[in-house]
Amino acid sequence: MDRIRIVGGRPLSGRIPISGAKNATLPLMIASLLTNETLILDNVPRLADVALLQRILGNHGVDVMIGGKRPGDGAYQGQTLHISAADIVDTTAPYELVSRMRASFWVIAPLLARMGEARVSMPGGCAIGTRPVDLLIMALERLGASIEIDGGYVLARAPNGLRGGEIVFPKVTVGGTHTALMAASLARGMTVIENAAREPEVGDVADCLNKMGARIEGAGSSRIVVEGVARLGGARHTVLPDRIETGTYAMAAAMASGDVLLENTRPELLQSALDVLTQAGARISATNEGIRVQRDGAALRPVEVTTAPFPGFPTDLQAQLMSLMTRAQGTSRITETIFENRFMHVQELARLGARIHLDGETATIEGVERLKGAPVMATDLRASVSLVIAALAAEGETIVNRVYHLDRGFERLEQKLAGCGAEIERLTG
Ligand code: EPZ
Repeated sequence: MDRIRIVGGRPLSGRIPISGAKNATLPLMIASLLTNETLILDNVPRLADVALLQRILGNHGVDVMIGGKRPGDGAYQGQTLHISAADIVDTTAPYELVSRMRASFWVIAPLLARMGEARVSMPGGCAIGTRPVDLLIMALERLGASIEIDGGYVLARAPNGLRGGEIVFPKVTVGGTHTALMAASLARGMTVIENAAREPEVGDVADCLNKMGARIEGAGSSRIVVEGVARLGGARHTVLPDRIETGTYAMAAAMASGDVLLENTRPELLQSALDVLTQAGARISATNEGIRVQRDGAALRPVEVTTAPFPGFPTDLQAQLMSLMTRAQGTSRITETIFENRFMHVQELARLGARIHLDGETATIEGVERLKGAPVMATDLRASVSLVIAALAAEGETIVNRVYHLDRGFERLEQKLAGCGAEIERLTG
């Protein structure tokens, strides 16, 4: 199993190209099930999760062709996927596949909307919490689906097609909103989604669906209106920049100090996180090439942050911020409100010398003078990368184990950081 070796203490300076967003790519790939024509996606990141979803979609009969490199393409150019769901051969998504990637549960919406039925395994819990799917099921029921749960599978049926309805989410859910949008696009009549997720990835998926012929208005706000259409067609769409990757490298630059330009990304995708970094003492500026993050040697200031749905501080950057705050001068507090168990990084950060006290959903982080390298491992993607950030500022060598978590969501992590002067390498085998 691969590991990553980092020797801390080097400032970061240079450019880091930001990839297309994983969390937009996955629902966009799933949206291909809505049409028998080809969906072309540009700026798709090279990630284990993308490859896995390709296999999962293959099981339904979807053909994915990866475009070759074109002259002038750099090493970091995203891939182009040509996705064709001309013939859907199977409407079942089995446990073995859904349990490996939760987002694959979302295939339930396009399969049901296009084929009139879907049988999808319940995903089960995961390292960051219980993560139920009750609100996704509620949304489909509101559109006229009949739902049965049998043997760990959700069986959704709408033999005469879905019909528009009112969906009021009692809690903001990204997956619920994606599911509702995809299903409502092919439902008869109008659907209103209240308390919709406002995450930029929802807007990106809605843009792509509109290019495919859907009629969606209000994506990006908490009230979305969808006028269903009889069929959707092919389209070409460029995946938006990954705001979590952007925020992660911004935190890395703040941690290591230095001067880094995050290319091909936009501040409005993560303004709340950039504001927190400014409070902590980093200098953030928007340029026409991306976002510049600078920090001189001055001490980091502690912050108080509570995670929240967009435009609040993202849960997917909580672990990275906690790493950064381990080196602040003073006591920080971070409250996690989205997932109840998303503190698996705390024990590992402690191995590097961090002082963190957990009380329910709040972590109190007492900044320390120095971190010291150690072998660590983590159980999810964002927790793993938080250990990489801590290692950049730790004295001596840190070995991050279970690198496959990182490969799920960060493309060429070690090359991107090494390109800015970090001492980081992958140890294979
Ligand atoms: C998406 O997960 C992201 N995944 C997650 O990113 C992200 O952490 C999360 O949104 C929140 O921003 C993808 O986009 C692929 P939710 P999702 O439904 O859609 C509860 C990463 O590291 N809930 O918005 O599954 C749920 O338990 C990942 O890239 C219900 O109660 O998250 C949570 O408390 C991890 N019932 C809250 O809502 C439901 O039916 C928000 O979850 C659905 C959700």
